Parts: sequence; structure tokens; C-alpha cells
Amino acid sequence: MSLKFKDLLGLERLDKKDLQIILDSVKPFKSLFTKCGKMSDLSGKTVVTLFYEPSTRTRTSFEIAAKKLSADVVNIAVSNSSIVKGESLIDTGKTLEAMNADYIVIRHSLSGAPDMLARNLNVSIINAGDGFHEHPTQGLLDLYTIYERKKKIEGLKVLLVGDILHSRVAKSNIWALTKMGAEVLVAGPPTLIPSNIENLGVKVYYNLDEAVKNADVLNILRIQFERQQENLFPSLREYVRLYQLTKERLVAAKPEILIMHPGPMNRGIEISSEVADGPNVAINDQIVNGIAVRMAVLYLLKSTKKRRYASSN
Ligand code: CP
Repeated sequence: MSLKFKDLLGLERLDKKDLQIILDSVKPFKSLFTKCGKMSDLSGKTVVTLFYEPSTRTRTSFEIAAKKLSADVVNIAVSNSSIVKGESLIDTGKTLEAMNADYIVIRHSLSGAPDMLARNLNVSIINAGDGFHEHPTQGLLDLYTIYERKKKIEGLKVLLVGDILHSRVAKSNIWALTKMGAEVLVAGPPTLIPSNIENLGVKVYYNLDEAVKNADVLNILRIQFERQQENLFPSLREYVRLYQLTKERLVAAKPEILIMHPGPMNRGIEISSEVADGPNVAINDQIVNGIAVRMAVLYLLKSTKKRRYASSN
């Protein structure tokens, strides 16, 4: 099995069949990972991680995933690279391509940066989060975690809570879940919900207590203070009062509700510690599934047609 494109830039571009191919591929990789196994499928390939923004989960899990498939991994520390001397993104990408990188996993604050690299290079580009746009592997691991726990996606009501406006995780969740037949609900302050989001087939709630009652799955999002240009709610205290997921709020929820958080988590802001460490939480599953999903993505992109730099001259 393989995917029909050389890059993974966002889930908006994938259809239901592509998403199902990825979901169906994850289980054996998870089994291999949990049994501390290794495969040689990417032996001789080079995966470069190029992160212009901080990351713990995504960068590390791509590195572990690539190493589990026997690829060579190079992590570029942007602050120690020629990028600080003013090198452009495309010139950096071309340099890595000339070094015969097979994959560049990129995180960038600008929406569309991975897309620009993909249009200019033959190497596979994987978007590890670009601005407000998408975080496709996070969307896929969230999708897989729901599928694994609930044994289905179709018909589920999945509620995304918090800073939908600045969240690339929310966008990738919305694309993937709606294509797979889930009903997506969003809840948060009006200033943190994009206008016209209903056009993506999403139902909007401003009252979290109302929304929680209807949900099968909650995905709690961090407030992205680093992306906010202005104060979008009166105070943190008010946000906590109206939108923090607490034990009290969960009293009205379905007993089998599944609680997720993509991380990094701000305990005491969007989620209470009691909930984060309590029952029905799948945060550790999301982390393990992140490695398995990234193994699947690297594997599925392996056989797409790529031109090696050296052979094109
Ligand atoms: N969920 C996520 O993208 O986490 P990191 O920022 O740690 O990679």
C-alpha cells in the first residue's frame, strides 16, 4: 500500500479512501513499536527534521518513528543553522535535497511554508504544523486514537474545545473527522471561533456545559497565546471559569466519554489536573499512537515517485 502523492501537507487534500488507508496501516506499526521491534523498510533513507518552532512530541516521535524503520535521522537546530544568517527557506530545502534527504519534516510559523517547499523540491515534505493552517499527523493520530477506542468514527460527536481560531490541530481534526463521517462540534469564546466555521460542517457552541452533554469525544485545545495579536477574552480567570474542563462539568457528560488533548497541556487553564489524570483520558494513547501514525506515514510515502537530486543532473 502507498499514498498517491509525494508529500503530506494537510488533511484537507486527502479523501476518505486515503484516510482509511492510513488508519488501516497503523496497527502493525503500533504492535511493532510496543514490542520494541524494528523494521528495515527505510534503511538507506534520510529523514531531516526542520523545526522553526518548538516541539516536544512531534519532533521526537518523528525521530523515533524514522529510527524504528531504520532510516537515518538528522535534526536541524534552526538557531544554530545558516537560517540565522538569512538563508531562505527554499535555499535551505535545496541544500538538504542536494544532501539526498528523502524526507523533510517541517514545522513553521507561516501557514503554507511546507506547501512552498513541496512545490520547489522533489523530496517528500511532511507538514509538522504550519501557522494556523494544519497539523496533519496530529489530526491523523487523533483520528486513530478515536477509532481504536470507539471502534468507529462514523456517527460520533466529537467536540473540540477552546482556541479553535489559532489551532492548526483543530483544522486537521475537522477535515479528517468530517470526511470520515463524524459530527464535529466546537465550543469556545466567540473571539476564538473563526467566523463561517459552520461552512466546514461544524456545529458551534459558546456554552461548554451545553456542548459537553452531547459529545462522545472531547478534544481539549491549548490557548495559543503565542499566536494572539491582541487580548481575545477579558481575563484568564474568566476563560477558566467558562471553558476549563473540570470534574464538575463532566458530571453531565456521557459516562463513556473519551477525553483527549494534543499537548502541550496547560494544567489549570483549559483542563484541570483532576481531569487530566482521571479516568476516560487517552492522552498517553495519543502519544504512543503518534509514533505509530508517523511510522505509517513515512512508510506510505516511501514508494511515491521522487527524483534524487544527483540523478536529475
Ligand atoms: N501536539 C504537538 O504538536 O506537540 P508539540 O508541540 O510538542 O510537538
